[in-house]
Amino acid sequence: MTVTLVRDPDEAALVELCALSEEAFPGQPFSMREEVGRPWTRLWVASENSAPRAFLIGWHVADELHILNVATAPSARRRGMADHLLKCAVEYARENHLRLLLLEVRRSNGAAIALYRKHQFSVLGVRKAYYSDNDEDAVEMVLSLDPVTGQVLPRADEPF
Ligand SMILES: CC(C)(COP(=O)(O)OP(=O)(O)OC[C@H]1O[C@@H](n2cnc3c(N)ncnc32)[C@H](O)[C@@H]1OP(=O)(O)O)[C@@H](O)C(=O)NCCC(=O)NCCS
Repeated sequence: MTVTLVRDPDEAALVELCALSEEAFPGQPFSMREEVGRPWTRLWVASENSAPRAFLIGWHVADELHILNVATAPSARRRGMADHLLKCAVEYARENHLRLLLLEVRRSNGAAIALYRKHQFSVLGVRKAYYSDNDEDAVEMVLSLDPVTGQVLPRADEPF
């Protein structure tokens, strides 16, 4: 597996990424095409044999990285791809002296919550009925870094 920070994916790569996104989030449209066009978007892609198998996409805004989506193709799960992507995103945050990595995750998404916990994210709060398709709550999670040393600044979970 190789992980690459991708700038300006070409049309063929975009088609593959859109298909991967649809496979990972059936019935939950995500505008990959629109997102990759924004100057502040950062996209990491994990590939095997030149085929994209997982991605992490986020926004680098000021000294924060907002993680919009992380997904692994169903047939490639539990093989460390998302783990590798998260490591790359945190490493990027350190290299760029960022202060916060932020994300929202469905309360029922135990796999993703476990992934973020493994990378030392903690709970910042809950947004009630944030997801309009089923009124599910979003759990907001955060990883705070010391922008100078890159060390994780531990913080306790807020109630959720
Ligand atoms: C969540 C998701 C990205 C994990 O991808 P993955 O490549 O299979 O994850 P990895 O193999 O790298 O696992 C890394 C860690 O995540 C957690 N994890 C992943 N899948 C899990 C599962 N099914 N149950 C519990 N924990 C899980 C574990 O902590 C794991 O570490 P471990 O292997 O040491 O136990 C994947 O299940 C997915 O694409 N889900 C659908 C899309 C989605 O919900 N994305 C998150 C949106 S916020």
